[in-house]
Amino acid sequence: MSYSYQINSFEQYKEVYERSIQQPQNFWADIASNFQWRRKWDKVLDWNFEDYKVEWFKGAKLNITENCIDRHLEKLGNKPAIIWEPNNPDEHHRVLTYNDLYNKVTQFTNVLKNNGVKKGDCVCLYMGMIPELAIAVLACARIGAIHSVIFGGFSAKSIADRLQDANARFIITCDGAFRGGKDIPLKSLIDDALESCDFIERVIVCTRTRTPISMIKGRDVWWEDEIKKVETLAMAPAPAEEMDAEDPLFILYTSGSTGKPKGVVHTCAGYMVYTNYSFVNVFNYKLGDIYFCTADIGWITGHSYIVYGPLSAGATTMMFEGIPTFPDAGRFWDIVDKHRVNILYTAPTAIRSLMSYGDEPLKGKDLSTLKVLGSVGEPINEEAWHWYDEKIGKGKCPIVDTWWQTENGGILISNLAGITPSKPGWATLPLPGVQPCLMDEQGKEIEGAGTGNLCMKFPWPSIIRTTFGDHERCKKTYFSTYPNHYFSGDGAMRDENGNYKITGRVDDVLNVSGHRIGTAEVENAINLHAGVVESAVVGYPHEIKGQGIYAFVIYNGTHNADDEDLIRRDITATVTRIIGPISKPDKIQFVKGLPKTRSGKIMRRILRKIAENETENLGDTSSLLDAGVVDEIKKGKL
Ligand code: PRX
Repeated sequence: MSYSYQINSFEQYKEVYERSIQQPQNFWADIASNFQWRRKWDKVLDWNFEDYKVEWFKGAKLNITENCIDRHLEKLGNKPAIIWEPNNPDEHHRVLTYNDLYNKVTQFTNVLKNNGVKKGDCVCLYMGMIPELAIAVLACARIGAIHSVIFGGFSAKSIADRLQDANARFIITCDGAFRGGKDIPLKSLIDDALESCDFIERVIVCTRTRTPISMIKGRDVWWEDEIKKVETLAMAPAPAEEMDAEDPLFILYTSGSTGKPKGVVHTCAGYMVYTNYSFVNVFNYKLGDIYFCTADIGWITGHSYIVYGPLSAGATTMMFEGIPTFPDAGRFWDIVDKHRVNILYTAPTAIRSLMSYGDEPLKGKDLSTLKVLGSVGEPINEEAWHWYDEKIGKGKCPIVDTWWQTENGGILISNLAGITPSKPGWATLPLPGVQPCLMDEQGKEIEGAGTGNLCMKFPWPSIIRTTFGDHERCKKTYFSTYPNHYFSGDGAMRDENGNYKITGRVDDVLNVSGHRIGTAEVENAINLHAGVVESAVVGYPHEIKGQGIYAFVIYNGTHNADDEDLIRRDITATVTRIIGPISKPDKIQFVKGLPKTRSGKIMRRILRKIAENETENLGDTSSLLDAGVVDEIKKGKL
């Protein structure tokens, strides 16, 4: 079965797109009429990109969980909402029907209530990929608490920074998480974080790994005990709180080119409408399809396309606890075979990594149920695209190359599976309601085919509303580079048919294995090492990860100075401690000086070229303070 707002042909896409641009308010009002509202909106859209403020569906009242769960119960109550596949294939998988999800979410909402959580409170979730994470996310949304999910690869220090920034009062975590052959000590990391966060009132700990953990009286409680209390009290299923369209739904931290990560804020109504609309149309989802997005809920892809988009559409969404290479590189294909997966949405890094194992892991795996393949998070190179197409899709599954960002809430540029044409390595056309443009360095819009900086001229419903606690930062980061435009930070090419190809970030943000990492953040962490004087971090092309992290470091420590390898490992350990293992440098080169301009600015452009092995082509170096530094760095290149 399809959806009334599902686009069924290229012709129809063109018509719908045209209408969405000519009459955006009517267009989105029609889409929004497919949802359950406690009260309809007074106005579809108010917007101002100059002094940034955007409001969608103003005056409307709703609760997103009524749209993700309650409204499906009558027709889909016994259908699977979430299929969970554990890290260890020998452990049994779990299936939660929409009825089960309703029971578990309403029950856990009562747990939150009993623990003093109220509408508007910020709840931090630091959990592994188990169904309880989705349940906790939805319970927060049901009670009107703002969730802030932190990916399990971040350090105690990163957690503490995020808790402080968001004024969180509650934490939901697990004893530990299974990921491949590793157990991640989540609760222990939380304990470390809480040494500098005495404002946390309650930590709810869900059992997963049975790792021994500390439990502090008066602060820490077990998830399972709290559920028992709710059962003993025979509390009725918790009703959903009535939310304003523009009440915050969640905060999600992401890296920028400067300073500390920023808390991207998304709100209830616009986010719901857009994630649903884009999910249904990009993947051409038909009721009953088994949909598998391999992302982690700690990232925006997991929020929008494991939880909210699919569940608001009554879909069956999979959650996978593990990693693509555990117990072997055939794991994704085992999962597709076992659960009869129809739609697979993953990242180019995973594709490139699995590709490197050859055909062996594919042997004997039945992938015939697959209808649609998706890619997200980084540019997909043509080799990976063709492997995905031939080996996984057997040449019969459209590949959707979906471009978007944490700040966008949902997919902005992508082909629609089987409806609009695909082009290897190209994200292709904007979704209805999305108005991209390319700007040149002078701030002039580029017409027709060309290359430039990717911007948006008009808001879509799930656009970032603010950066938590610092609206000025939001205005400055996204709306000041090009007046009256949202600037994505990406560069792009456009062909004569209006297709877009994303070429990558034009700022100091790296994309390592699809994870967004700010070079300034990594430099700050390296500089905290006792022997480091200064450092500069750039990206370089990496065969599997897309980009790797290359650090140039000036070191003056004397201890162990003769053991460069040990110093490298110390620096890596420092970065892991400060940010987390995802930001570890791949290469560390010790240098005597960094190329600087006369005003003291590091010329990263030159370092980037050296890291990319383009040492013959360094461009204009006339503004360098000391050209000798560059020769020395070139000689020591790793
Ligand atoms: O550079 C773009 C890249 O990922 C960045 C956004 O990262 P994040 O906020 O973590 O969200 C990732 C998942 C939506 C973008 O600025 N990116 C994302 N999708 C693509 C992409 N680059 C090329 N092609 C894509 N399909």
